[in-house]
Amino acid sequence: MASMVHDDQYEGREQALAKHTLLEKYLEKLFFIVGNNSNRNKIINLNYVDCFAGPWLDESQNLSASSIAISLGVLIRVKNTLIKNGYKIQMRALFIEKNIDSANKGKIYLNSRKKDDIEAEYIIGDFTENVSEILAWCGKDFTFFFIDPKGYISITLDILQPLLMRKRSEFLINFMYEFIGRNAGMESQKKNIENLLGEKIEIKNLNPEQREILILQTFRKNIKLTSKMPRSWSGYSRVINPEKNRTKYHLVYFTTHPLGMVKFSEISDVVDDKQKKIRSKIHEDKLLGKHKNMELFGGSGDAYVETVSLDSKVDDYWLNNLTDIPKRITLHDFANILEETDWSPRLLQQSLLRLVSQGKVENLDLVGRRPVNFLHYDKQNGERLRKIT
Ligand SMILES: C[S@@+](CC[C@H](N)C(=O)[O-])C[C@H]1O[C@@H](n2cnc3c(N)ncnc32)[C@H](O)[C@@H]1O
Repeated sequence: MASMVHDDQYEGREQALAKHTLLEKYLEKLFFIVGNNSNRNKIINLNYVDCFAGPWLDESQNLSASSIAISLGVLIRVKNTLIKNGYKIQMRALFIEKNIDSANKGKIYLNSRKKDDIEAEYIIGDFTENVSEILAWCGKDFTFFFIDPKGYISITLDILQPLLMRKRSEFLINFMYEFIGRNAGMESQKKNIENLLGEKIEIKNLNPEQREILILQTFRKNIKLTSKMPRSWSGYSRVINPEKNRTKYHLVYFTTHPLGMVKFSEISDVVDDKQKKIRSKIHEDKLLGKHKNMELFGGSGDAYVETVSLDSKVDDYWLNNLTDIPKRITLHDFANILEETDWSPRLLQQSLLRLVSQGKVENLDLVGRRPVNFLHYDKQNGERLRKIT
């Protein structure tokens, strides 16, 4: 389906472009999956809740580069397609915003829409004081929560807990690492960071990379524990500050469905590629601006965004986790692998293909050739892999 996210509207705030691309692509995939798996004879409600809605930094009249317009665009498109396919779908959207001027701007936008049968409304107020009201609005229906604050004080795990404990929910949380990482070492912020992460951590002797990993992993681990769900998965998508070439934020994802984990990881991979292209272009423009003849000074956009190849690490992972006794990998197992490794489905599948062509691994359930997705974990009982020794 045609995207509502237009790159040219994000000059100077490319990180929001990555965020909105991920939001649009994942929300669309999710609501299609939930809708397509519903009973055609029953009316199904799907909810979207934008807990820090804005609008913010979008001066256009039609708010086209805001999460409000982007999410509503997805809801309308998915609803119309599902209805065409014979489903009875209703979509609802709730926007929470504390700043009265912003909320009023958002309300004007909601009222100006053509009649689209999407029930959309605002709560003007502080998210932290409206959690019970939000839960009441959601009822028992499937709900996607987008949590995109400006800082971190309003998204501590004790505040999020009633939502995380709610069944039939998924979450995309903007974990503002640039800000959190800077503040994590400050004495005055210790208690706030502990509340955010759900436990006290020691970062004094860590290098910046170790510190980032520990902070992010602690938050992800404790989201799962706080939810008290028997099975859950958490992933993330790293959004990079194109100017500084380091993390701006992590979009942390939480689900209780293994397919959600897989689809999120696939889409996150696509957004990574898009970010790379954009960062490469920004860097090249910068070089060209500074030095009219870039080649003379060396360096290119591609070199700027280049990352170390993970291929041998991924190969080792499979070889260390397989034996000559066949191992069945189901959707559930594959979601666990994605969560454990933080690698994309593409990397894991490409590695299997490599290992097969080297005669090191075989798929006992393989029929025919599969040049792309070598492992069909999504079949009812998954498929069996074996290391050839
Ligand atoms: C990063 S912006 C949201 C951007 C929007 N989600 C988007 O992608 O277009 C955060 C918004 O949250 C609002 N806000 C900050 N603290 C809040 C709180 N405690 N409760 C509700 N809204 C809050 C701010 O006024 C701001 O509009």
